[in-house]
Amino acid sequence: MNIPELLQQLTLEEKAGLCSGGDFWHTKAVERLGIPAMMMSDGPHGLRKQDEQGDHMGVNDSIKAVCFPAGCATASSFDRELVERMGKALGNECQAENVGVLLGPAVNIKRSPLCGRNFEYYSEDPYVAGEMATYFIRGVQSQDVGTSIKHFYANNQEHRRMSSSSEMSERTAREIYLAAFERPIRKAKPWTVMCSYNPVNGVYASENKHLLNDILRNELGFDGVIVSDWGAVKHRAKSLKAGIDLAMPYSADYEKQLTDWYEKGLIGEDDLDRSVGKLRELAEKYRSAVSRRRVTMTEEQKHELAVRAAEESAVLLKNDDDILPVCRDKRIAVIGGFAENPEFQGGGSSRVNAKAAQTLCDCLKQLGFNADFALGYMIRYNILTPFGIRYAVETAAKNDCAVVCVGNTWLTEKEETDRFSLKLNPAAEDLILDVAQVNPNVIVVIYAGSAVDVSAFEGKVKAILYMGYCGEGANEAAADLISGRVSPCGKLAETFPKCLEDTATAERRGNGYTERYPEGGLVGYKYYEYNGIAPAYPFGYGLSYTTFRYGDMQVKKLGKTDYYISFSVQNVGRHAAAEIVQVYISDDASMVTRPKKELVAFGKKHLEVGETCTFGFKLTERDFAYFSPVLNKFYVENGTFTISVGASSADIRAELVVRVHGDAPKAVRVHRNTYF
Ligand code: GLC
Repeated sequence: MNIPELLQQLTLEEKAGLCSGGDFWHTKAVERLGIPAMMMSDGPHGLRKQDEQGDHMGVNDSIKAVCFPAGCATASSFDRELVERMGKALGNECQAENVGVLLGPAVNIKRSPLCGRNFEYYSEDPYVAGEMATYFIRGVQSQDVGTSIKHFYANNQEHRRMSSSSEMSERTAREIYLAAFERPIRKAKPWTVMCSYNPVNGVYASENKHLLNDILRNELGFDGVIVSDWGAVKHRAKSLKAGIDLAMPYSADYEKQLTDWYEKGLIGEDDLDRSVGKLRELAEKYRSAVSRRRVTMTEEQKHELAVRAAEESAVLLKNDDDILPVCRDKRIAVIGGFAENPEFQGGGSSRVNAKAAQTLCDCLKQLGFNADFALGYMIRYNILTPFGIRYAVETAAKNDCAVVCVGNTWLTEKEETDRFSLKLNPAAEDLILDVAQVNPNVIVVIYAGSAVDVSAFEGKVKAILYMGYCGEGANEAAADLISGRVSPCGKLAETFPKCLEDTATAERRGNGYTERYPEGGLVGYKYYEYNGIAPAYPFGYGLSYTTFRYGDMQVKKLGKTDYYISFSVQNVGRHAAAEIVQVYISDDASMVTRPKKELVAFGKKHLEVGETCTFGFKLTERDFAYFSPVLNKFYVENGTFTISVGASSADIRAELVVRVHGDAPKAVRVHRNTYF
């Protein structure tokens, strides 16, 4: 039966029911007309399927599943192929569990390093966030399982996330907060998009026709189902008219509002039929997927992938005297509760019921090391509390080096709350300082979901290895990196500022009803560079066990605004490793406020010692453009641009100046539109 015929057959109540969900996790079935119910489940880094009591905060049980590195970590891998493989593995799990749509990826921009859900999100940069999401979606959907890119849009804080309106200019929205969704929606075509809880410029996302219809449907060409975040719909009929096809979770009120408004003539047949048609298409995708069910990955293979992903995502922030990798003949003191039971994911709806990570001591011993363990602190009620400090210090004193494992628990980085500080728990800082007093060779391993302020101990330790929330393979990966079995290659997808006061949102805490974005598009590294604020560790930064030489940068003009750039990278050190390269553009004489540099491309290659490779990137008009509210489009000014190739945003290895022949309508030339 085609959709027009189906719409003829469905009663008003059935149509209202289809648009209002079936229960907490399922869409509604219409058995008599062959429409199946379909299950949706979280989340972005692992399957949180609840067969029993459903909830959207990760409180009730869910089935055992593999926990992969969270978005904060995988983005630091800058590895499209890896993220796609993770997506395939997750899609595989969903297939096996008869889940039709996986509620991820989460691509909200990390505007403030304090946001409680930053661990789920990819980056401060929309290009990185968009690329990671694109390949994640491709991976999951290659298994005939849908995705739900979320939360559309500007859900950049957890503080009053249900009511605080994100207030920004159109230019800021287009260049940053919408841009993170634009690329994956156009390139990967997610089956669904999940709207956010918050208002945007005063109108709830779930009732924002400009957002859902004008931009998402008409401009970005999204033709799937728009689903609400769980409980994000304030008024079902208004949200239907704005473009919400499916309100979750099920509520009888939703159905009643639709039938009441229909009978009053406040919503028309076309409003309902448009959404029912989309839901029927989704149900058909699910139905045909069921017929193609296959389970191809074993638990061991998925776990192994989780370990590899954690290794590729870890960022080496400091490595004085090349203390890492540690030689096998060195005796290691392994200190801290996280060495035994690491936090490897945040709290809330994304939290996976994963198996416990192996202990770091066991992993190091399996690699042939002598390792002594001391607790140093206990984790009670999710708070690190000092425990056995004296024994920990004694253990450190009698070993050649000390690996101190610290970080944030899921109660610190979780949904519905933001952090108030960038610092680690005082017990963790004190433990590091106590150990550093008796052993000069301290290696700090950090498990956290966002930027941390390491100033309390950075100068007292030799090395800092940032693991992120890197999934169940956390300590296997940490041991492989500490031992040199694998070289770290990850680079920060989020700037680590020196202190909270340096951030654009330090004074934030709107009145709970509006949160203005006065920094405009100057988010993350763009803000620090524009304002001349040196961070602790810049965007795109990460050390390796080897060194790379960049050279031979060339540029070829392909057209008025298109260029092809290439350059070589050689591994000139003594350890095989992957290198992540970044390409930035700068508008040398813009008529409007623009960031000093904007990331437009990145690549990654594994290089053996001595090996050389060539990277090549095509840059097109959009890479040079900014969004002009005057012209209401992305627009390229005439003039010269600098193309920079970097190992990080603060480590530019080569650059060239090119002339770009954009448009220059008179109207714009006198218009100096800043971001606000
Ligand atoms: C939550 C989250 C969303 C999640 C949904 C279902 O509140 O905001 O990311 O997918 O509800 O758990």
